[in-house]
Amino acid sequence: MHPDFGNMPPSIRSPLPGTKSRELIETLAATECPSLTTRRARRAERTGVQHDPIVWANAKGINVLDVDGNVYVDWTAGFGVAVAGHAHPSVVDAIQEQSERAIHALGDVYPSDVKIELLARLAALAPHEDARVILGQSGADAIEAALKTAMLKTKRSGVLAFRGGYHGLSHGPLALCGYSAAFRDPFQAQLHDEVAFAPYPREGVDSLNDAIAQVRAAWSESGFDIGTVVVEPIQARGGIVIPPAGFLKALIELAHERGAVVIADEIYTGLARTGAAFESVRDGALPDILCIGKALGGGMPISACIASYDVMRAWGDPTGEAIHTATFFGHPIACAAALASLDIIDDENLRELAADKGERVKALLRKRLAHHASVREVRGRGMLIGVELDSGERTLRLIRAMLERGHLLLPAGAKAEVLSITPSIKISYARVDELVDALDECLTTS
Ligand SMILES: Cc1ncc(COP(=O)(O)O)c(C=O)c1O
Repeated sequence: MHPDFGNMPPSIRSPLPGTKSRELIETLAATECPSLTTRRARRAERTGVQHDPIVWANAKGINVLDVDGNVYVDWTAGFGVAVAGHAHPSVVDAIQEQSERAIHALGDVYPSDVKIELLARLAALAPHEDARVILGQSGADAIEAALKTAMLKTKRSGVLAFRGGYHGLSHGPLALCGYSAAFRDPFQAQLHDEVAFAPYPREGVDSLNDAIAQVRAAWSESGFDIGTVVVEPIQARGGIVIPPAGFLKALIELAHERGAVVIADEIYTGLARTGAAFESVRDGALPDILCIGKALGGGMPISACIASYDVMRAWGDPTGEAIHTATFFGHPIACAAALASLDIIDDENLRELAADKGERVKALLRKRLAHHASVREVRGRGMLIGVELDSGERTLRLIRAMLERGHLLLPAGAKAEVLSITPSIKISYARVDELVDALDECLTTS
């Protein structure tokens, strides 16, 4: 392993995918759900370039090593998770120490000490007074818990969500998937059908008044008894879409006037990435329920649904049994990793760093890429950045060309029209310069 692995520039030794990756891809194609292989073939057809995956072997800091010895810079931070880089030493230590003490415990019956420590830590971090927490293993779990909490609190079954919104794909959140109807359609008969979708407004395009008027319209046209509003403070997978200033606050006011509960989905934005612990409380807004995930576990699967005691007590004691639990909720190793992760965010000032670096990276991208006619906009907050191009095909071709230069990137937006840039907040400016140079070159040819 190269001594600088963790913070080194890309190093690509073979045409991609390399021989070992190729062998593994054959096994993948023969064993994984066929829709994923088909998706890659469809992308290849759509863009005229192949989309065979490379296969990860190691991940540390900002780097990924594939099974053929190629080194990449990970501009995705593994779906936005690794805000402090992959395998941060403090997270690795916490996992190791915890694995020597207790790998598994008895969840909500006889919990581990580390789970209780994490609950206290999250309750203290929450903007609500006397906050209470339900842990989960995925972002979708946190949204499920939030939807149930809101239902118990309001006793009203209708939900208002947003076009372009993404909240996970288990049945509860899937019903609210405004990102793509294609995700919902095959399962619609099993999904909650009292979901109204409002347009998600864009900063610089929609005024706050128009945005709220559209929400009112979607609400009244639905005919549903809406008790829950679910919103991302910035749509991430939907294309790094920022709403006009004050939108969350106005939305919450409207919802509260109507007796509804607001769930802010901070699974992508929360903890540090956008420069705040909670993006949705920035302008004085206070959503009733906050969901976090991704960055929380430093790479381990853990999420949380957080609300005030007043909201959470709606759970009451319906049958004397815990009616919302799972074998692995509050898993000790994930909790230990989460505690380490929260320490890293504080100790390494990742919020301040994200805010400052994000502005500089955006300014550089604008300066260096503006001359490409295909670049529509560079936007984002903190280290959640999107470059909108003139077509999804171009973005996908660009992503492949960048991969071949050792830069790992993902698309966002329903048509893949946005290049998503969400690396570790600790990424160096030297790596950022290399990214921008490579983008400039590849945009000339893609
Ligand atoms: C805003 C948001 N909510 C929820 C989810 C779902 O999280 P998970 O994939 O961990 O279920 C995601 C995942 O990308 C997300 O970006």
